[in-house]
Amino acid sequence: MSKAAASDFDRAMEELQRLIDEEERVTYSPQVIQESHFPQNLGRMSAPDAFAVVRGWCGDTMEIYLRVDDGRIAQATFMTDGCGPTVACGSKLTSVVQGLSLEEAQQITSDELRTALGGLPEESVHCAQLAVNTLHEALASYQRQSRDGRARAEVARQAGDLMRQGYH
Ligand code: FES
Repeated sequence: MSKAAASDFDRAMEELQRLIDEEERVTYSPQVIQESHFPQNLGRMSAPDAFAVVRGWCGDTMEIYLRVDDGRIAQATFMTDGCGPTVACGSKLTSVVQGLSLEEAQQITSDELRTALGGLPEESVHCAQLAVNTLHEALASYQRQSRDGRARAEVARQAGDLMRQGYH
């Protein structure tokens, strides 16, 4: 490519990026943009106390991992193959639940998550629901395993299997 063609190409790319950024600013709140570009708590946990994997109707999957200490969520992480808003939802939700009691975390709703993110466009409302459903499923799994006396080692083994296999 000649020098002139290369600089035309660079200019076209810059313009394209500018349009993408502008479109994003018009569509999403600053919080959603921040959390999706710089997600917090992203990653699988190797030995969680509980976790859940839920697939939404859109086909995307959310995983949430919890470390529980004395009835409170000491650490929460997430992984998803979903869209940017889903990354933002996982990031915000796993940040908000840290330090909450299991009961408090169980009461979080997708409306509250959307509010914490400064709102979501209509077509992304289900992304917040997927994140919250996954959290609730991880909490339910924790309660079930406490009731069944299922050893933490078994949960860690299952999480380890998931890490090795991946799903995407
Ligand atoms: Fe599937 Fe966002 S589009 S979770």
